[in-house]
Amino acid sequence: MKIRKLTTENYPKVSALLQQAFPDSRYEVQLVESFHKNGTPVHEWVCLHTNRVIAYIAFSNAYDGPDVCGLHLAPLAVTPAFQNQGIGSELLRFALRQTAIKENTLFVLGNPEFYQKFGFVPCAGPICPFDKNNAHFLSLGNTPSRKFTVGYEPEFSKGKK
Ligand SMILES: CC(C)(COP(=O)(O)OP(=O)(O)OC[C@H]1O[C@@H](n2cnc3c(N)ncnc32)[C@H](O)[C@@H]1OP(=O)(O)O)[C@@H](O)C(=O)NCCC(=O)NCCS
Repeated sequence: MKIRKLTTENYPKVSALLQQAFPDSRYEVQLVESFHKNGTPVHEWVCLHTNRVIAYIAFSNAYDGPDVCGLHLAPLAVTPAFQNQGIGSELLRFALRQTAIKENTLFVLGNPEFYQKFGFVPCAGPICPFDKNNAHFLSLGNTPSRKFTVGYEPEFSKGKK
């Protein structure tokens, strides 16, 4: 298995992977396709296995008003046949070592048990606009203690569940 930056020829494979990993939702597919269509700045990596894309991770800007204040981790997905074999963890650990990522404050809206294993902690200050009571909103790195609603790229609001 190899971890590589996502390249344009693998865009269709990422869409297929996201549809398989989130079978009841079009949200994640549309989110990532909109990032690409709009040229939104994202950091993206994939796990490749025998020329298949079996995992995907993305980070996009987080905002405090007009200013970038970190990165949102979303989505992270592993193709169903390869889940629970350590691949999602390996891809996440790889991403967290990359300069573009590790120097930033990171935010994630996800399962706290999963993300706490990688050092994420419940986010006390910044508030997630998509999470009632911030229960699934975590951060990693230098997080402001001030309360403010964290901004997302506009693609996140389109078709929000
Ligand atoms: C969540 C996901 C990215 C984890 O990747 P993975 O390669 O399957 O996970 P790993 O093998 O590295 O790690 C396994 C751990 O993830 C946990 N896990 C598996 N699926 C999970 C899910 N949907 N939500 C939260 N945790 C999950 C397992 O309980 C396991 O925990 P343990 O080590 O304490 O037993 C992957 O299962 C996936 O794509 N699921 C469907 C899409 C999804 O829900 N993505 C959202 C991420 S919050």
